[in-house]
Amino acid sequence: QNLSIRDAVPAACAQIQDFPKPGILFYDVTTLFANPQVFRRCIDELTERFAGTFDIVAGVEARGFLLASAIAYSAGTGVMTVRKAGKLPRDTYTKEYELEYGSAAIEIHRDDIPAGTRVLIVDDLLATGGTLAAAVNLMDQAQLKVAGVGVLLELEGLGGREAIGPHLVESLSIVS
Ligand code: PRP
Repeated sequence: QNLSIRDAVPAACAQIQDFPKPGILFYDVTTLFANPQVFRRCIDELTERFAGTFDIVAGVEARGFLLASAIAYSAGTGVMTVRKAGKLPRDTYTKEYELEYGSAAIEIHRDDIPAGTRVLIVDDLLATGGTLAAAVNLMDQAQLKVAGVGVLLELEGLGGREAIGPHLVESLSIVS
């Protein structure tokens, strides 16, 4: 309870040694989401850091949804979903991005949100930044204004911040 948010976030994650491969320490946020005190602190902190700068919150599938919904509720804004490709029924903007092996794509509907709307993009984790850079690209395609990017955890040394470019990136905790 007395931990700083920077220490509380990784402490609330289950940490799995050598997953998904030897040498990697995996931070599992399911335990953080299940922890009422830490979950609330994370939502309050992200909401506060971007207060007054956004009109809607975009969550990246899947864990980003949980954050986006709570931040939007807390800030009194709407929420939008950045979906994995193939889920949305109407015309979409699509962006492919590289994974360690192969590629993936994410999408938003073309006409859900008016151009110029200020969007806060959130996800649980910033690693290489491929996913969040693709989410930023979708907002650019839709002519939405990226207010910033908020994450619980940033993995240091993978170039994630740089991949997101000039946008404000707020991570509650940075781990290596
Ligand atoms: C994880 C995480 C981020 C992304 C971060 O999602 O939730 O979205 O990876 O990695 P990056 O910075 O290297 O792009 P994952 O692809 O595992 O999808 P999921 O949330 O649906 O499990």
